[in-house]
Amino acid sequence: MKAIQYEEHGTADVMRYVDLPDPVAGPGQILVKVEAASVTPFDWKLRAGHLRNHFTLPMPSVPGRDAGGIVVAVGEGAGEFRTGDRVAVMAGVFAQGGYAEMIAVDEKHAVRIPDSLSTVEAVALANAGLSAWIAVLAAEVKSGDRVLVHAGAGAVGGLLVQLCHHLGAEVTATCRSTNRDYVLGLGADRVIPYDREDFSEALKDQDVVFDLMGGKVHDRSYRVLKKGGRLVWLVADPIDDRGAEFGVTVTRAMVADDKSALQAMMDLAGAGLIRPQVAGTMPLSEAAEAHRLMEKGAISRGRLMLVM
Ligand SMILES: NC(=O)c1ccc[n+]([C@@H]2O[C@H](COP(=O)([O-])OP(=O)(O)OC[C@H]3O[C@@H](n4cnc5c(N)ncnc54)[C@H](OP(=O)(O)O)[C@@H]3O)[C@@H](O)[C@H]2O)c1
Repeated sequence: MKAIQYEEHGTADVMRYVDLPDPVAGPGQILVKVEAASVTPFDWKLRAGHLRNHFTLPMPSVPGRDAGGIVVAVGEGAGEFRTGDRVAVMAGVFAQGGYAEMIAVDEKHAVRIPDSLSTVEAVALANAGLSAWIAVLAAEVKSGDRVLVHAGAGAVGGLLVQLCHHLGAEVTATCRSTNRDYVLGLGADRVIPYDREDFSEALKDQDVVFDLMGGKVHDRSYRVLKKGGRLVWLVADPIDDRGAEFGVTVTRAMVADDKSALQAMMDLAGAGLIRPQVAGTMPLSEAAEAHRLMEKGAISRGRLMLVM
C-alpha cells in the first residue's frame, strides 16, 4: 500500500510517500481500506517533536489518528462489523497510521458512518468531534448559558459553536474577521474578530469560556467570566491557572478515545443537527504540503482532509 512515513522528528520535509506492506487485522481488529484521513494540529506537533515530553513515538511512524473507509477484513474475535461496512476510526496514539491506504484498528475504536454523511465528512468529525463533545460535558453547558468559544472557525471551535447553539446557549465566538459570516452560519449569536477587537473589552458576565488557544487568550479570558463561571481549556499554548483569583472553575477537557462520544457526534451529524466542517481535500501524496499549510495557520473552517 501507499503511505506517508517519517523516520525522525523534524520539518514537514521528513515525511515521505512510500510503499509499505498491507497491515493485517489482528485479534479484535478490523482492516479498513482508507478513503480519507484528517490532518490535525496534533499530527504536525507530534511530527515536529513538540510533544516529545509527553509521547515517545515509535519510529518509523505513519502519522494520522483519524481515518475512515470500508472494512475489508475482520480479525479473530471481532464481531461488530462486517466487510463492506463504512466506518470512521480513531487510530491509537502510538500506533497512528491514518495516512495510508489501509489501516488495522481495534474495533472498539471504530463507528459506523451514517448514510447521510460522506466518508470525508465523517472522518472530519472524529478527533474534533470527540474533543468538542468532551469539552461541552466538562463545561456542563445548559440552555440559557452565555458561552464564549475561542477559535470558532476551527475544527474543534466550530463544533463547539454548533453544540452549544444546539443546547440552547447564547454563543459568542472569536475568529478572524473574514470568517465572521461563516461562524454566524454555524449558530453563533455574536462574533468578535480577534484581528480587529479585543474580546476581553467587548464581553462580560459569561458563564462559560472554551479556551483552545492558551497563553494570552487564556489569560484575558478570566476577565469576561462572571464569578462562579467555568473556563474549560484544551491543550495548546501553556496556561497560568488564575481560577482562585477570579473565582472561576478552571477545568482541562481530558480528551481520550471514547467510542460513545464519537458515536454521539456521528448520530447528531447523521440527523443533520450539526454540520461536519471540511476545509478542503488534498491527495495523500501531498501530506507534507498539508502539514506546511496547517503549521502556518492557512487552514480554516474545519479539517483539511487527505483523500486516497
Ligand atoms: N487533547 C486536547 O486537549 C486537544 C484536542 C483537540 C484540539 N486541541 C487543541 O485545540 C486547538 C484547536 O484545534 P483545532 O483542531 O480546532 O485547530 P484548527 O482547526 O487548526 O483551528 C485553529 C483555529 O485557531 C484560530 N485562531 C488563531 N488565532 C486565534 C486567536 N488569537 N483567537 C481566536 N482564534 C484564533 C484560527 O481561526 P481563524 O481561522 O478564524 O483565523 C483557526 O481556525 C489546537 O491548539 C489543538 O492542539 C487540543
